[in-house]
Amino acid sequence: MPGALPASAGIGLRAPHYAAIAERHPPLAFLEVHSENYFGDGGPALAWLERLRADYPLSLHGVGLSLGSADALDARHLERLQRLVRRFEPALVSEHLSWSSIDGEHANDLLPLPRTRKVAAHVAGRVREAQDRLGRRILLENVSSYLEPPGCEMQEWEFLSEVARESGCAILLDVNNVYVNSVNHGFDPLRYLAGVDPARVAQYHLAGHERGEMGLIDTHATPVSPEVWALFEEVVTRIGPRPALVEWDTDIPALEVLLAEARHAEAILGRAFAQGSESGGHAHRRSQERSAA
Ligand SMILES: [Fe+2]
Repeated sequence: MPGALPASAGIGLRAPHYAAIAERHPPLAFLEVHSENYFGDGGPALAWLERLRADYPLSLHGVGLSLGSADALDARHLERLQRLVRRFEPALVSEHLSWSSIDGEHANDLLPLPRTRKVAAHVAGRVREAQDRLGRRILLENVSSYLEPPGCEMQEWEFLSEVARESGCAILLDVNNVYVNSVNHGFDPLRYLAGVDPARVAQYHLAGHERGEMGLIDTHATPVSPEVWALFEEVVTRIGPRPALVEWDTDIPALEVLLAEARHAEAILGRAFAQGSESGGHAHRRSQERSAA
């Protein structure tokens, strides 16, 4: 059985760091990879993952299942994911609350969904189907967006919560995406946090964003901003410590830079543990252990 992750920090594993991590073996709670990058039958990427999996717990993060699409679920994609899950026994398997395909044509973006009860029921059904085929609970991540989809009946946090409740999945709360959307769409990020059931949150993501003409853009190409670190402090205080991942996908820096970001996340998680202990908040820790199991 895949072990539960501690409420500590991991980093996204990217090809430029394979050798450095294997050689230096830095202390990290886990590594996370994009599942689709390892769907092949062989090659160096799979060989590196095999080697590093011997030393670190793993989280598989999918970007291509398009759970919000109206197309039929991609059986071939799910089969490949299932094969990867069996081979590497990840602690966590996650996907996005978004859509990216229509009539079999795939977009490169994780597009936001119209937040209606009908769409929530549709996505929840597809998450249940994916979970049934994989034989395990998955985590669903909130995505960043730049325009409001038409016809929304719910706030973003209400939509995410409804899909999670109806499907029984867990939530991967991307703190940077909450912040980016709060600026782009003008809501209080603390309202978002208050609207999410802490017991469903099983992992956090942290990443960098940049300012563009239409607002903040979730680029994953810069350090986590001071505003997102401040929001992360609020998140761990209100929801509790969970495994937290530092994502960096473009202009990938030296490994030291990523490790420093992970240490920053760990310091915040550690403070939350300490505060929880002082105020009798061990329930947070127990809730985390249950949610990650
Ligand atoms: Fe993310």
